[in-house]
Amino acid sequence: AQQYTIAVIPGDGIGKEVTPWAQRALEKATEGVAAFDYENFDLGAERYLRDGEILPDEDLERIKGTDAILLGAVGDPRIKAGILERGLLLKLRFALDQYVNLRPSKLYPGVTSPLANPGEIDFVVVREGTEGLYCGAGGAIRRGTEHEVATEVSINTAYGVERVVRYAFELAMKRRKHVTLVHKKNVLVNAGDMWQNIVNKVGEEYPEVTHDYCHIDAATIYMVTEPSRFDVILTDNLFGDILTDEAGAVVGGVGYSASGCINASNEYPSMFEPIHGSAPDIAGKGIANPTAAILSAAMLLRHLGFDDAAARIDAAVELDIAENGSTPRSTDEVGRDILARL
Ligand code: NAD
Ligand code: IPM
Ligand code: MN
Repeated sequence: AQQYTIAVIPGDGIGKEVTPWAQRALEKATEGVAAFDYENFDLGAERYLRDGEILPDEDLERIKGTDAILLGAVGDPRIKAGILERGLLLKLRFALDQYVNLRPSKLYPGVTSPLANPGEIDFVVVREGTEGLYCGAGGAIRRGTEHEVATEVSINTAYGVERVVRYAFELAMKRRKHVTLVHKKNVLVNAGDMWQNIVNKVGEEYPEVTHDYCHIDAATIYMVTEPSRFDVILTDNLFGDILTDEAGAVVGGVGYSASGCINASNEYPSMFEPIHGSAPDIAGKGIANPTAAILSAAMLLRHLGFDDAAARIDAAVELDIAENGSTPRSTDEVGRDILARL
């Protein structure tokens, strides 16, 4: 049987509570399917507080040698915001060139949406993962003075935009064949025009796929008034971050929202993680929903070509939600209930 190595990075807060369930689901779903080895990485707040290390080169090299990464969440209130987020999570996404941040949203029967009339919700956000305002271009001068200047520069390259646009059209071909570009081209005319022009150009190669456009502010309206209009939402790094938290809320909470940070050229391993963070407000209470982490494990399996195993996890989650979706449960209860259906 073929051998696969999975890097496991539980990280911080509830990341540590939900990731073991994702790993158990992964193990159970692949029993007898292939040989999976797990390499655990001690990365995150504890490591940083202990020895000042965030993502040592040696760890990054070992991660590069794995077949895929399962990550929990990163961030800790004891540490200045940005240190772990940039130094660990974004460093991984950038170093491993994970240019597609794939974030599906589906309203499962049994989940209570905050919307009175949610309708059928089943869309995927294709968020660019290696450019935009996340590059870290910019700086601050005269810090702490009344003449302080701070800039954050959004980097958009034709190469970087075209590859993610292509991914979105390919994905749309396997779905309902509709792409919605979300941007702010009425204000951000430089990047906005570039995104729209590339969408128009690539779109010509996919005559079966229709595409339209929404400004980000209006998109946040439609997300709550008419989410069923969306099939594939294509957007940049920051807009995609914001819109997917809203999407998570609309389908019952970010505890159900999985994601994949995909290096679609397969030069480096891809990373699978819930879209939520370390949730310091509930960390340690044992009440975080592990479903998003478990669904991320299914995305990992699909990425490696184990479609049946992935489908079994999805089905176990769907059954669990249909039966228990409205019952308050602990992390371990949800984990056990899902595993029992696998
Ligand atoms: P968050 O996603 O951690 O939490 C937002 C809200 O959602 C909180 O009320 C939280 O209790 C709730 N929530 C999140 N996941 C849940 C789950 N599985 N089950 C039930 N409820 C859940 O966002 P935040 O509070 O803005 O950020 C906290 C920390 O996490 C920060 O340090 C931030 O930088 C970091 N963060 C990391 C990631 C990541 O690792 N991918 C993502 C987002 C935020
Ligand atoms: C996410 C998070 C990250 C992002 C942060 C923690 C860097 O919010 O995965 O959605 O902005 O991408
Ligand atoms: Mn986010």
